[in-house]
Amino acid sequence: MDKIKMALIGAGTWGSAHAEIYSQHHLSEFVAVCDSSEEKAKKIAQKYGVAYFTDYEEMFEKVACDAVGIVTPDFAHAKPIIAAANRNKHILCEKPLATTQEDLDLILNALKGKDIKVMVDFHNRWNPPVCKIKSDVDEGKIGKIVSAYIRLNDIIYVPMEMLSWAEKSSILWFLGSHSVDVLNWIIGALPEKVYSVCHKGILESKGINVPDLYQTILEYSNGAVATMENSWILPNTNPYVNDYKLNITGEKGMFNMDFSHNTLLERFLEDEASHPDVIVKPRIHGKPTGLAYESIRDFIERVYNNDELIISIEESVSVTRIILAIMESVKKKQPVKIEY
Ligand SMILES: NC(=O)c1ccc[n+]([C@@H]2O[C@H](COP(=O)([O-])OP(=O)(O)OC[C@H]3O[C@@H](n4cnc5c(N)ncnc54)[C@H](O)[C@@H]3O)[C@@H](O)[C@H]2O)c1
Repeated sequence: MDKIKMALIGAGTWGSAHAEIYSQHHLSEFVAVCDSSEEKAKKIAQKYGVAYFTDYEEMFEKVACDAVGIVTPDFAHAKPIIAAANRNKHILCEKPLATTQEDLDLILNALKGKDIKVMVDFHNRWNPPVCKIKSDVDEGKIGKIVSAYIRLNDIIYVPMEMLSWAEKSSILWFLGSHSVDVLNWIIGALPEKVYSVCHKGILESKGINVPDLYQTILEYSNGAVATMENSWILPNTNPYVNDYKLNITGEKGMFNMDFSHNTLLERFLEDEASHPDVIVKPRIHGKPTGLAYESIRDFIERVYNNDELIISIEESVSVTRIILAIMESVKKKQPVKIEY
């Protein structure tokens, strides 16, 4: 079978990671890139010797591709998904699937009846400790899950400097979507009710009109209760860009994951103390490795082999519905029941 011809929409920070895997994987061929910024599209196109465009409809017209990676900002996934679905392309979309009910409805309408594979890149499904917890839970090692605590925060550099569009998203969409997916996957159920409180002021005082953090409680249909913390204002001196912890407590046991404040590797330089990344996207012998790349590779392999994808579209739709309910709860200052 021919290699999977991959196109890319969104040639920013994370689009560059996608481009590298599309071009390196032995089962894919990177064929074209599109970015509304010609400069960004051209940069990646020149690096990999592919065609570039500033309009994805034109890209689909002119270049034959089998699948497309959508790596536009959080709030700008719907239109490219719909365009790709209309042309029957398989889709790997960055998280979250959508950030509004309107976008979600448009996406679901466009995907209706299409024989294409669609996956949202919740790459924690390839995170080694998360996967170990999941398999042990499924084997019944800790019995029925009673409670969960997940904390997935960013240093303030992310909304202040890394993302030009932070105030059109939030820590809930940017990292909370991962948190919700991890909780749903491990708990093996969906929350029926959420209650959330946010804190505002620190980012606003710096000119970014978005909440600083959300503290959320999720009540699951199987009786588990989860607490989820997502903050975008950790000091830049935190030893790693993320602060990521997870506790899963069951009737017969418990897991504690300390993903970023671990002592796996501590680095002390004259002017810096840090925990360098060795799991998410390290380079080993020059090759991009780690969980963030594994999800992209897995998509290519499963599309090539016509296998079922690891994350279903329904699961990703649920994540968006849950976050919309969390935002409603913040607004109403009361618990919100979730409609699926
Ligand atoms: N930065 C990260 O570490 C990271 C990690 C994992 C996932 N993600 C996800 O990847 C997505 C992109 O994030 P990023 O950090 O790369 O953002 P970015 O701003 O660096 O890149 C987004 C790119 O999309 C382009 N774009 C916007 N609208 C477009 C359109 N209609 N057509 C074509 N191009 C368009 C922009 O010009 C920009 O180059 C987000 O959903 C984010 O949550 C980011």
